[in-house]
Amino acid sequence: MKYPPFITIEGVDKAGKTTLMNLLNKHQDLIHWNGKRIVFTREPGGTDNVKAEKLRTFILGNEFDNLTQAYLFAASRNEHVMHTIRPNLSLGNIVVCDRFIDSSYVYQGLVGGLGVDVIQEINKYALHDIIPAITIVLVISPEESVKRLKEVTNPKEINVFDENVYLRNADKIHDGFIQLKKLFPKRIHLVDGTNDPKDILLNVVQIINEYIEEHE
Ligand code: TMP
Repeated sequence: MKYPPFITIEGVDKAGKTTLMNLLNKHQDLIHWNGKRIVFTREPGGTDNVKAEKLRTFILGNEFDNLTQAYLFAASRNEHVMHTIRPNLSLGNIVVCDRFIDSSYVYQGLVGGLGVDVIQEINKYALHDIIPAITIVLVISPEESVKRLKEVTNPKEINVFDENVYLRNADKIHDGFIQLKKLFPKRIHLVDGTNDPKDILLNVVQIINEYIEEHE
């Protein structure tokens, strides 16, 4: 395979993205990749990307108009693509990212009202033509998501964004991800986030391995 796949993990808050990322990291050997490494990162921000992480704190900790948010997420994405994602893909490393452009499509585009086309336009230069090869959307009900967010998170850790955007729109955000599957049917894979984490891992590993085999 010429280029390593860029893989993104998406879904409503508390859908189990972090658990899946950790399991993938722990069981990297299951992925049939003869390249060099598998790199795990996240948005907004980016693992080992100090500037992008600073932007994360700023974006999630303040109240902004939806259009401002869309630009801020795109700005942070530009830093992340330029300094973390693209260099690693060029080195032959698979990159797995917790959230990416689809979160902007759903949160700022479909729910915030800008629409998918405007988000595409705003992100045109930030993406540098880096589009996910595989996107896993973990699906849990909005009710379960809100319950988990309130139960699991220390109230002090619920940020301005969670309060102002997520908790007010959980239903629409859930529906937005389902709608995205219709727009990008080949790239997006809906995976039941209520299944046992080990089964989710095996399901996702199979999707990744099939993609690698198909593109060899
Ligand atoms: P996280 O809690 O999953 O790390 O994500 C932080 C929040 O940022 C989450 O509620 C989704 C939101 N978000 C957007 O609204 N647009 C984006 O483009 C990204 C990457 C995240």
